[in-house]
Amino acid sequence: MTRVHVAASGCYDIIIERGILSRVGAESAGLLRSEKAVIVSGERVFPLWGETLRASLESAGFEVLCYIHETGETAKSLESYGALLNFLSEKQVHRTDCLFALGGGVTGDLTGFAAATYQRGMPFIQIPTTLLAMVDSSVGGKTAVNLPSAKNQVGCFYQPRAVFCDPEVLKTLPQEEYRCGCAEVIKYGVLGDGDFFSMLSERDFRGDEEPVIARCVEMKRDIVEADEFDLGQRRLLNLGHTLGHAAEKCSGFALPHGDAVAMGLAAVMRQAAARGICSSADCERVIETLKKYGLPTELAFGKKELFEACRADKKIANGKMHLIVPEKPGACRIIAMDTEELRSWI
Ligand code: GLY
Repeated sequence: MTRVHVAASGCYDIIIERGILSRVGAESAGLLRSEKAVIVSGERVFPLWGETLRASLESAGFEVLCYIHETGETAKSLESYGALLNFLSEKQVHRTDCLFALGGGVTGDLTGFAAATYQRGMPFIQIPTTLLAMVDSSVGGKTAVNLPSAKNQVGCFYQPRAVFCDPEVLKTLPQEEYRCGCAEVIKYGVLGDGDFFSMLSERDFRGDEEPVIARCVEMKRDIVEADEFDLGQRRLLNLGHTLGHAAEKCSGFALPHGDAVAMGLAAVMRQAAARGICSSADCERVIETLKKYGLPTELAFGKKELFEACRADKKIANGKMHLIVPEKPGACRIIAMDTEELRSWI
């Protein structure tokens, strides 16, 4: 078992252990004074892992309710968010009860925002079931739902009471989603730990995820503790995401997030190498590592299209944005630029 403690506006542990899912009830009981435990999960994940969680919560003495949302980004619509709140109200869930988000980033974002807002805030616990959610979205307290115009437009920072990562659940994760998690894992190596990156490039961590998840969440913990509200250092986590988000938009959101991040990371490495900010050898190492994990490294969209998509990024304020640029695996710099300068990077 690995336990990583986070001290942000809320303090909590991230517990990583194969098989921990069946002990979530016992581990959570001491953290809460809830009668009801509400499992929030998607249509694909609940049939796989929902009963294990339900049994664990029931044997710890909770009255368990289950709320199943549809799979995919539509679960983060305002309607879907409202439906979850109505369910909580109809079932007389109280603000001392607890929501358990069992799923990937969509489930975590929806559940976290419902927990943050229902009756002015109630506890929630993250149980990520994708590699991407384990290493990124379940940690750090970003919660949100979407507007028709753009993703994650309505949300808040709200920390969970605990995060339980069980690598066992990754065995039912579709290959495409596993690969997407690998892109975020490689991103961590490039942004903050050269030795970790070397390990990823020299070995193959697939099938032995616990130490890799632990290292990623330690890095994310350090960043979140330094900049919980995303005003400075937390921007580092956006490495590969500026062009990645643009590529997702250009594809009409058909491109999986991790594939888009891999493309964005490869593109920014190439530009950094062309400008002498990183070496061509380091650029090649990153691109080869992405390929080794089955990730795409070519941005298959036009420059104009990508630029327009970048300009619509919600992180642009007063025409200024921040691009995360690698100097070498393990070290990145944050470059503030206006959108015209960004055009030259594309
Ligand atoms: N997923 C990026 C962040 O948590 O800031």
